[in-house]
Amino acid sequence: MAFTYRDNELYIEDVKVDEIAKKINTPTYCYSLKTIRDNFNSFYQSLPGFLICFAVKSNSNLSILKIIGQLGGGADVVSEGEIRLALAAGIPPEKIVFSGVGKTASEIRYALTVKVHQLNFESIEELKQINTIASDMGTCAMVVARLSPDIDAKTNYKISTGLYKNKFGIPMEILEKIDFKTLPNVKLCGVSAHIGSQICSLEIFLKLVNYMKDARVKLNSLGHNIRRIDLGGGLGVSYAHNKEAPPIAEYAKLLRDNLSGLDCEFICEPGRSIIANTAVLLSQVLYRKSNDFVSHVIIDAGMNDFVRPAVYGSLHQIIPAKKDPSLPIETVDIVGPVCETSDTFAKDYSIQRLKNGDLVCVCDVGAYGGSMCNTYNSRLLPAEVLINGNRISVIRNRGNYEDLLKQTIICDGIDQ
Ligand code: LLP
Repeated sequence: MAFTYRDNELYIEDVKVDEIAKKINTPTYCYSLKTIRDNFNSFYQSLPGFLICFAVKSNSNLSILKIIGQLGGGADVVSEGEIRLALAAGIPPEKIVFSGVGKTASEIRYALTVKVHQLNFESIEELKQINTIASDMGTCAMVVARLSPDIDAKTNYKISTGLYKNKFGIPMEILEKIDFKTLPNVKLCGVSAHIGSQICSLEIFLKLVNYMKDARVKLNSLGHNIRRIDLGGGLGVSYAHNKEAPPIAEYAKLLRDNLSGLDCEFICEPGRSIIANTAVLLSQVLYRKSNDFVSHVIIDAGMNDFVRPAVYGSLHQIIPAKKDPSLPIETVDIVGPVCETSDTFAKDYSIQRLKNGDLVCVCDVGAYGGSMCNTYNSRLLPAEVLINGNRISVIRNRGNYEDLLKQTIICDGIDQ
């Protein structure tokens, strides 16, 4: 375990978090290199022959992408920016898959120019656009249909993507009717799906696997040569008070048991299950305030640093950097400094009494944490550090006010 207490002090690998606060200040994302490697290797080793494309949107830090690439991973990307990040991190184009419901013409052109392994389409209009661009470039694009299987992922509706009513993918009924002979610059070579995120039931994945196998048979009977199945990401993790998520090994076994023997290339696109539990957000208590109704503990991390509680109502465990068993346990609301009531990390939360200056860690923030932070309230972006044994490396500098002021412009002609 990389996140442990020794003599009541929280350590990440061999670094006391207190030391990180002293050196780098707060709020800071702190990652354990060992945990990243262990999680990725669980996927890689239990799914031999699969291409494991890490979902870059879950964490787009270049050092982290580089680690994943070194371990043999590819990248699932959804924008030109993410392709560029993956390439800059050393992930080769033949391990990059490009999804997304609204790729622009220039993004499609870029993807074809750098020759990504997989270009997904999610609508007839997008397919026609790819055909036109490929024709323009004098090439034939191998494309993969992202299917909408109408499977309920039974997750938060904001991150459910596999139902007909969601904007993603293309239903089989529509795909089957496309006359590919009229589109000579695209060739359908595979099927993909991603039905949602934070999925905690293996049954749902089994449904998806069976759906994809059937889709392949159906499309091949229509004259296509489907030789790739991409199952997307979506495996959940166990957050505080959340359903128990199946371990990576069980998910992998389900895929192996139900897919082996098919003459096909397999891809999966995990994000959260690889990176969520590899980081904590280190923050400091600024103030406490109480009235007859509630006690608030105000910390220096806000919803701009970590949006998940405010956007999805998710609860992440919050732990003190220094445990003191002699202190009473209190029930408090832990909130950030941003001017919104939704800037609340935890309500009615039981934790040892905290005082100004105490350090706390918000847990399991490696996925959709650093990649979703922003400067709302004109706050600086948090720093990120990677812990490797007893080494602390800064992998993202904290934002600074000079850059913040450069983001908007005072234009000419507005002086009175
Ligand atoms: N592949 C595609 C096409 C995706 O859209 C996603 C995530 C993934 C793979 C990776 O899914 P994962 O294994 O991480 O569940 N911001 C939200 C999650 C949004 C997920 C978007 N798509 C959150 O913080 O819960």
